[in-house]
Amino acid sequence: MTSTTDTAATQVQVLNDLPARVLTRPELRDLVAAIAADPAAWEPHVAYDDEHRHYVCLHRDANVDVWVLCWTPSNDTGWHDHDVSSGAVAVAHGEVIEHNLVIGSAALEIRVPAGQAFSFGTDHIHRMTGAAEGSVSIHAYSPPLWRMGQYAISTTGVLRRTSVSYADELRPIDEPFPDDQERLRDAQIQN
Ligand SMILES: [Fe+2]
Repeated sequence: MTSTTDTAATQVQVLNDLPARVLTRPELRDLVAAIAADPAAWEPHVAYDDEHRHYVCLHRDANVDVWVLCWTPSNDTGWHDHDVSSGAVAVAHGEVIEHNLVIGSAALEIRVPAGQAFSFGTDHIHRMTGAAEGSVSIHAYSPPLWRMGQYAISTTGVLRRTSVSYADELRPIDEPFPDDQERLRDAQIQN
């Protein structure tokens, strides 16, 4: 099982017709919806792994990157943002869940079944998980992903951001951040 950032060899017409500029959110949404509706574009790249989410880069140029992501219910990106990129997701097969962080209450969960798509701007923070075995989604980002923010909540509820590369697999941060009581104690010592 491999996940790769090497661009897969593909002949998808909609990828040959991209404007030579940063795409708008509606354009990103139309792009991922068109690819999701074309199984020949993504089926050759489908594979599943409960431990390490399987994904393949379909296209990458100076303005946009496009990915095929494969999901089992065990797969979880953890909380993250996309830095300076806007993005769109279309579910091609199965179902995924988009989680939106709500301060002070449970996260908002939006189930996205096959045939549906959504887009988001640079201000968006979310987490994605698989909802059904054998799910596939198409993602596009513009400008193309380079850095992303991966979030974790410390033992005392403080939200922390870590900058990661687009080449890193997004997953919940396993290593707990230093306990905030320890941080406060350190601050008092320095004072
Ligand atoms: Fe994301």
